[in-house]
Amino acid sequence: MSKILVTGGAGFIGSNFVRLMLARGEHQIVNLDALTYAGNLENLGDVESDPNYAFVRADISDRKAVEGVFESHKPDCVVHFAAESHVDRSVLDATAFVTTNVLGTQVLLDVSRGVGVSRFVHVSTDEVYGSLGPTGLFTEESPLQPNSPYSASKTGSDLLVRAAFHTHKFPALITRCSNNYGPFQFPEKLIPLMIANALEGKPLPVYGDGKNVRDWIYVEDHCDAIARVLEKGRDGEVYNIGGNEERENIWVVKKILELLGKSEDLIQYVTDRPGHDRRYAIDGSKIERELGWKPKHDFASGLEATVQWYLDNREWWERVRSGAYRDYYERQYGNR
Ligand code: NAD
Ligand code: TYD
Repeated sequence: MSKILVTGGAGFIGSNFVRLMLARGEHQIVNLDALTYAGNLENLGDVESDPNYAFVRADISDRKAVEGVFESHKPDCVVHFAAESHVDRSVLDATAFVTTNVLGTQVLLDVSRGVGVSRFVHVSTDEVYGSLGPTGLFTEESPLQPNSPYSASKTGSDLLVRAAFHTHKFPALITRCSNNYGPFQFPEKLIPLMIANALEGKPLPVYGDGKNVRDWIYVEDHCDAIARVLEKGRDGEVYNIGGNEERENIWVVKKILELLGKSEDLIQYVTDRPGHDRRYAIDGSKIERELGWKPKHDFASGLEATVQWYLDNREWWERVRSGAYRDYYERQYGNR
């Protein structure tokens, strides 16, 4: 049984990945997470007593702390999710994005290389490619043209991972995925924000004309693709991951209102995000051709399941919104 160090496992995608891998029963998981505002151990409440799971609170930009985790847990490989992940926050202040996404990634690369891990999967985003016009798709060869401080910091981390492979023959791989949605997404991102606002009867803020396009993928599909890359990917390669589900934002917002039986009067057009990328769309043919992977969920059923999850887990997102979830760590881990 190999041991995977997962960084950022208390966040949205990381927690879904930890749960998926534990359910497969083939790996031990060490979850290294700093528990920023986006990290919530309640996301993993159902698996925290699994004997194959351990949690360590540490900041990836703190070299000594990261070295300590590697010394105590001796992971065989790393799947790196930890990041500052929200574009709007990066517009307000990019500092944490550079510290975590750029410096933190380099620290992890250095420490991982020092102990000789067998594989390092760096989880990145299609946003590193910039924005598309009305046609065309991002391939792994598309130029890197990030437009937001978030995507620029992720591009910086991708280039450091690339350099570790080329310079040191470090066995690293990069995945670049489109927009995720599903259970446990922090309600600052489009889909959970709109669901929560609609349920509370608050306005739904749509940026600009609402016609920006994203390619939506159900989080379980993304996690499954990362597992495939970890198991079968070729060192030094980049793999795009997409959902083949392009939608305008306004379509998504109206669909959510329809699923919830709420009025479109809640929609409020607001000032556009500065530098707002117009369209993202992924060409996922490389991962399908080379690793035999493609998404299993379509947007219609995935969105319905997601809306249902937020209806069934109102307490979760209300605690996230109120900040009450932050007491959980102290209660759960304070005496350990
Ligand atoms: P998230 O914001 O929900 O979770 C991020 C996690 O990282 C949190 O648990 C947080 O506590 C942790 N973290 C932040 N800074 C840290 C630090 N310095 N040290 C240790 N842990 C730290 O993010 P997410 O949406 O789950 O995204 C996970 C990864 O996937 C990110 O690298 C992101 O760039 C990438 N990605 C996200 C999407 C998407 O649609 N959400 C799409 C493609 C790629
Ligand atoms: P977001 O979930 O922040 O993901 P990203 O910007 O990384 O793609 O936003 C998805 C799309 O929804 C994006 O085009 C911006 C738009 N958006 C809104 O219109 N209103 C909002 O309140 C938010 C958070 C996003």
